[in-house]
Amino acid sequence: MTPVTVRVPAKVNLQLSVGPRRDDGYHDLMTVFHSVSLFDEVTVRPADRASVRVTGQDASQVPTGRTNLAARAARALAAAVKRRQSGVQIEIRKRIPIAAGLAGGSADAAATLVACNELWQAGLTQAELSEIAAGLGSDVPFALLGGTAIGQGRGERLTAALAAGTYHWVLAFATGGLSTPDVYAACDRLRDAAPVAPPELSTGLMAALRSGDPAAVGLQLSNDLQPAAVSLRPDLRRALAAGEESGALGAIVSGSGPTCAFLAADARQAGELAVALTGAGVCRGVVRVQGPVPGAAVVAGEPG
Ligand code: C5P
Repeated sequence: MTPVTVRVPAKVNLQLSVGPRRDDGYHDLMTVFHSVSLFDEVTVRPADRASVRVTGQDASQVPTGRTNLAARAARALAAAVKRRQSGVQIEIRKRIPIAAGLAGGSADAAATLVACNELWQAGLTQAELSEIAAGLGSDVPFALLGGTAIGQGRGERLTAALAAGTYHWVLAFATGGLSTPDVYAACDRLRDAAPVAPPELSTGLMAALRSGDPAAVGLQLSNDLQPAAVSLRPDLRRALAAGEESGALGAIVSGSGPTCAFLAADARQAGELAVALTGAGVCRGVVRVQGPVPGAAVVAGEPG
């Protein structure tokens, strides 16, 4: 069997509206996911024993045992297709930082599902893979789909969004990460038991996305987790302010943070923003990306 390599993007949330805490501990969401051109690559090879190897960005902090989300994805797929031997060597080349609010771990799990489906010639459809993905984590189905999509439920129920144009972003990476459960818990604490309305889709954002006008989209970005992320990492305030002062059309914490995402008018302004943010010393590094891009897809190892 030829090794299979899958490339998978990071995401930002253009809208992240968080409803009340549910009995199962999760929160009902209304979110707009947007995949961006920062990619991890996952290669799977047949092996007698399951193993995970991680190289690249933050590699030393990624667990490589059975708890690794990519390893769990391989086992979940093997169980779903009743494959007795799930032994597979998983190699993850990371460019997406971990615990950054960019769904890097979810991306690796989605890539592993697509790669093993191909390696084992299991023939599961996108819908079947998406169901397994939802059992692995709230953001995993979107990493399969990519593009710009509305997420409901825990974030796993997806509908493609009508979005025109290409958007130019600068992502500012923070030193250290944030734990997603900690950020949701901080969000609950900040709300202090005040009643929370069910989250609703932003019609303003939808109209802006249909128009393809980055200035309109910039004005509509929203993230209910941002106050919680900033309460845990007050330094993010400086990064957001630096981006705004440098002319970003929108400045927002990505997902549960601590990465900040800045929307630019075009590629040239994204370059200027990247320089300004680096010069301001408010982050450990910046990267320029575009969105939307497609979800997890095989890049090498196709039959023949
Ligand atoms: O689904 P996933 O494992 O990625 O979620 C990680 C954690 O984030 C959950 O354990 C929960 O604390 C929080 N979460 C949430 N509501 C969501 C998604 C995630 O509270 N819709």
